[in-house]
Amino acid sequence: MKEVLIIHYSQSGQLTEILNNITSPLNAKEVNITHLEIEMENPFPFPWPKAEFYGAFPKTFKQEAQKIKPIPENILNKKYDLIIFGYTIWYLTPSLPTTSFLKTPEAKQLLNNTSVITVIGCRNMWIMAQEKMKRQLKELGANLVGNIALVDRHINHISVITIAQWMFSGKKKRFLGIFPKPGVSQKDINDSTKFGNIIAKHLHSNDYQTLQNELLKEGAVKIKPFLITVDKRANVIFSKWAHLITTKSEENSSKRAFLVKMFKYYLLFAIWLIAPIVFILFLLTYLPLYRQIQKDKVYYASVALKE
Ligand SMILES: Cc1cc2nc3c(=O)[nH]c(=O)nc-3n(C[C@H](O)[C@H](O)[C@H](O)COP(=O)(O)O)c2cc1C
Repeated sequence: MKEVLIIHYSQSGQLTEILNNITSPLNAKEVNITHLEIEMENPFPFPWPKAEFYGAFPKTFKQEAQKIKPIPENILNKKYDLIIFGYTIWYLTPSLPTTSFLKTPEAKQLLNNTSVITVIGCRNMWIMAQEKMKRQLKELGANLVGNIALVDRHINHISVITIAQWMFSGKKKRFLGIFPKPGVSQKDINDSTKFGNIIAKHLHSNDYQTLQNELLKEGAVKIKPFLITVDKRANVIFSKWAHLITTKSEENSSKRAFLVKMFKYYLLFAIWLIAPIVFILFLLTYLPLYRQIQKDKVYYASVALKE
């Protein structure tokens, strides 16, 4: 009997549904599955009031752990053959509940010396967050063997509009009846069971050498090179904003509220005005940078970590 632990935090249940589908083929195959849902001492709201949504930015981006509820002893007392670690992305970074869990001594106890498959359910901007995750997992002594990233496949600007509507209303519905449904499509969520069969095979042979390549053949990760460029640039700018907000204002102060509001306006400006310019620059440099772009695509789809 193999022991598998599934760890995750999901607000709407989208990531929960993805994980349930991915792991459903494991149930029939001599696998004992344990679930750990990360719970905050002070839960984040869902749907989000706008001020709290933007207010979560500095701590999320700076990966400042918050208190989580204790992890049950019966989960900690077992040794797992595999951990399937589901997480969402907040501000180009693993969500704050995810970071809060990773920074506990219990995370070290569970993840150290254990094979881990990460499963991401987000809008579309996850690449640099996964690099942060790779580093965290390395620090914890975990062995990252696979990654599956399910995203909203609509064009960037459409998904910005629809996800905002979803996050602020709590309803995963077609905005105004004309926009597509937000988030990961129901078809991609339903089809994700295909990954479970591949995982089961590697779990039983205890050999994960070819796992990621097999997952990639089934479309576990699709890299859009333009989004790598945007993600990298936005990380540089976000780090300046996070530094400015946290050094120039106290938490819960009116100055903090003001700076967060400025960040919000900047974000809208960046999405609607800067991103299209970056896209034009990306197209102009596509041919000269073609080889580098192809190399980046291979690297970011892999579980390797550049030193
Ligand atoms: C505060 C916040 C920031 C987010 N930032 C990003 C982001 O930078 N990139 C991205 O692809 N998705 C982002 N998302 C979308 C989430 O990754 C995720 O798809 C969504 O919250 C639904 O996940 P759930 O399973 O927790 O309901 C953000 C969501 C929230 C709440």
